[in-house]
Formats: sequence, C-alpha cells, structure tokens
Amino acid sequence: MILAPTTRCAARRVASAAARRSLATLQKPTAGSNATFPVGTTHPSVFNISEKNGFLPAADPLVALPEKYAVLESLLQRMPLTKADGTPGLLATGAFGDAVKTEMPSAINVEAETDPAVLTALFRDYTFAASAYLLEPCDLHVRKTAGPDGMGGTYGLGRSVLPKSLAVPLAAVSRKLGAKPFMEYAQSYALYNYRRIEQDRGLDFENMELIRAFSGMQSEKGFILVHVAMVAHTGKQVAATIGALNAAAKHDRAAFDSHLVAMRSALRAINDEMETMWSRSSPADYLKFRTFIMGTKNTPLFPKGVVYEGVSDAPTFFRGESGANDSIIPTLDNFLGVEMPNNDMTAILKDFRAYRPENHSLWLSWVEERSKAVSVKQYALADPNSAVLYLSLLDLCREFRQRHWNFTKEYIIRRSSHPIATGGSPIVTWLPNQLDHILGAMAQAAAATRNAPLASENAALRDELEGRAAAQRSILDREVKDLGQKFKHQAAETDWNAVKA
Ligand code: HEM
Repeated sequence: MILAPTTRCAARRVASAAARRSLATLQKPTAGSNATFPVGTTHPSVFNISEKNGFLPAADPLVALPEKYAVLESLLQRMPLTKADGTPGLLATGAFGDAVKTEMPSAINVEAETDPAVLTALFRDYTFAASAYLLEPCDLHVRKTAGPDGMGGTYGLGRSVLPKSLAVPLAAVSRKLGAKPFMEYAQSYALYNYRRIEQDRGLDFENMELIRAFSGMQSEKGFILVHVAMVAHTGKQVAATIGALNAAAKHDRAAFDSHLVAMRSALRAINDEMETMWSRSSPADYLKFRTFIMGTKNTPLFPKGVVYEGVSDAPTFFRGESGANDSIIPTLDNFLGVEMPNNDMTAILKDFRAYRPENHSLWLSWVEERSKAVSVKQYALADPNSAVLYLSLLDLCREFRQRHWNFTKEYIIRRSSHPIATGGSPIVTWLPNQLDHILGAMAQAAAATRNAPLASENAALRDELEGRAAAQRSILDREVKDLGQKFKHQAAETDWNAVKA
C-alpha cells in the first residue's frame, strides 16, 4: 500500500497524537464510556487489556503458589509424562489419579484468597490437575491402541467424576474469577503459563519457559509459547484498533489510514510469529499431548459429562482449551465488521466468546459495537486508499486462517480420525466455515473497489488479493468435500450416546 509522502508525514503526526490520546484514555478506562472500552468490575483480574501488554496479563504470571498449596505444587511437578529432570512422571504409568486421591484426601480452603495473581495461578494449577485427572485414562487408551507410528489410537472414556479435593477449590476459584471451572486458553494453558527467563528482556520466544506442562516435550513447550509470542505483539493491535475507531468517528481519513497501516504491521508480525510453529512444535508430536487439553462438551470421551464432587450432582459440560479463545482474530473480525453466516457453526464461534477472561469478552463486544456505530467497513470502502488497506487487513485474516487450516490438516487430520477438536468443534467443517467466509468478504470488498480510482500499485494489489482468494475458495470447497468421506460426524452438535466411539 503506497500513500503519497506528504500524506504519510501528516498521517504519522496525526497518528502519534492519536496514539498519545488513546494511551491516556486507556490508562484511566471508563466503564461504559463511548471513548474507552469497558473494564470488568465484578471480578478481580490480571487480564487488563492495554496498549502495553495487549491481551497478555498486565504482569508476568505468578510462577509458584503460596506454601499452603505445597501438595498441589508437588503433584504438578511430578505429573508430566516426562518430568523436568527427564525421568517419567505420574502420567507416564497412569498413577496420577491415585496420587491425587491418596496425597490430597480433602479440599484446601481457598475462600480467603483475593489477590488476582494468586487466584489466577490457583485457577491455572487446579485446571491442570483436573484435566490430567479426567483425561489420564484417555491418554493411556490412545497410547495403547496407537500403531507403531503413534497414529490411529482411540480415546475410550474419560473419568466422569472429579474428586472433591480438586472440584471444590476449582469451583471456588472459578467463581471468584468469573471463569468456567475448566482449563482455559488465557487463564491457564497458554497466556498464564509462561516464565520470563531474563527479566529485563522482552517476551520473545527464546526468553520464555513454561510453568506447567502435561507431557514435558519440547513440542508442547513450542506449541504453547508460540501462542504467547504471538500475543506479545497485541499491544500494537489494541492501539491501532482504538486509534482507527476514534479516527473513523471523527472522519479523520489520514489518521484512519495510518492506524490501518499500524494494524497491518502488528498483524504481519503476529502472522510471521505463527509461521514459526512448524519448526518449534513437531506435527508428529502434537497428538502426544493434545489429549490433555480436550473438553467435556460435545465429545464421545464424556458422553454424560463430568460431576464435580462436593459441588453439585448435576453433570457439567465444558469446551476444551483452544486457540479459538484467543482474541487476535475475533478483534480483527469485529473491527472489520465481518458478519459470519447465521448457522450452527457460527453459534459455536459465539459460544467460544464465553471461554475467556471477562475483560477480553467485554473488549470484543465493545469493538464490535463501536465498529458498527462508526461504520468502519463503509467508511473504509468509501475511499480508494482506505479500501485497499481494508482489503489487505482481510487478507491478513485470510492468511492467519489459511495457515491455521494447514496446521489442522497436518498436525491433526492427517494423523487421527477423531471427529472433534479440543474445543468441541467438528474438525473438518468448523474452521473452513470461517475461512470460507473471509474469502467471501474479500471477494465483496474487492468488487466494491472495482471502479474506484486506484493508484496502479493499489489496483495491482487488489487484483492479486482477489485472485488468490478466489483460487483458495475453490480448493477449500474441494478439500471439505473430500474430507467429509473420512469424517462422518461433523454436525455442530452430535448425540455421542447414540454413536459408538
Ligand atoms: C499446531 C498448531 C495449531 C493447531 C493444530 C490448531 C488447531 C485448532 C483447531 C482444531 C481449532 C478449532 C476449534 C476447536 O478447538 O474446537 C482451532 C481454532 C482456533 N485456533 Fe488454533 N491451532 C493451532 C495453533 C493456533 C495458534 C498458534 C493460534 C494463535 C493464537 C490459534 C488460534 C486459533 C483461533 C483464533 C481459532 C478460531 C479460528 C477461527 O475463528 O476461524 N491456533 N485451532
């Protein structure tokens, strides 16, 4: 995208002034105000969105629990398939469940805890222990039934009762945080699970270690920390999103365009970081730790859900940990005004919104409402420069989802015929639903600029993006049809009691 030099300088001046203004408003966010996004006040949280930390917690995660929880700490350190010292841990032989029962006969009382960092660390650690406990039999089953290449194993059934020593404190901590009492992407598995190695250095991949792990494999560390390294770029995405929304409200075209340029470079950095997944986490290893991040909702592993002993006799059903609960792509979708089709697959996308910190949910709703209120899409398409920038942002969203679909085919579909992803979505139809819709949105945006007086570079870029989107759409269509032969149960919700696992 090429802006005339004078426009670029003016835009930079306006952009930095706008950035300063939005930083000031961000430092003192006002709940419900039009100018700043709302911040939750009902639950304590370390997840305070800002231009500095983006969607990461405001301070690095708490690594160690207070002494009172030493028994939990000890269990979690001995839990992984391979422990930090390289020897087999409790999960390796299926001894974790018994260890929980003998070493933790009763529930530790967490009611007095109020510090958000301690509460979130407790949530992370109890959810790790709960998922290990519930899914340990599935991990044993899949290892027993897999072929010599480690593929083709089946999961069997998970444990259907969570003992009170885990269930009661987990339910209490979740209530305090306003979270579901189950492993989550942000507050446990990924965004509250990194430790900075050198304190005065940034959160680049090489400067991070995991706090908790199920397998202890390098590939698990790579899988989790690539997510964190991507989210480490989101301060810039947040700043550009707020700046562009404010600029559209004021009809300040130069500022709007320059914030779109800033958003584009933040997303470029995020997508480049995502590409490193291939080398940092081996596709051949993924299924060896994935079992432990599965959910209890819409899955043959828990056809009757899970009862939380000492909490309620009613079974619970929760989606598993999934990058679908990350906020980068939903923020971009909402900012760009991408309307997903009104179908069962989109209902799952909306359900994922509930599996994240309250401030992330509030932010996403706020971006959606503000984008509609200031008509971001129409405002962008009304000007040739903005329109091509808008199209290039859609293209970055396409690139993310296309790479992501490639991950899913290579890390999962090629190696397993299990029909459900960790978040409970049908494996071959759900991700293509969103990718297809972005490709459709690109075709629409490109068509809207067909008669616009574009500079020749912009016209060429528009034609290139439009052509690539059309080609990918027909390939995707064919792939989904072919994969439909292998995966029979791809409805949004399936009655797993009626299906033999
Ligand atoms: C080996 C790498 C990965 C694999 C195999 C993978 C797999 C999946 C699967 C199967 C889903 C479907 C939802 C569900 O869990 O039920 C999903 C959703 C999602 N994942 Fe990943 N994922 C990977 C890496 C990432 C990374 C690095 C991110 C970055 C934040 C990410 C973000 C997302 C998002 C945003 C969605 C929702 C997709 C959408 O809205 O179209 N994933 N992932």
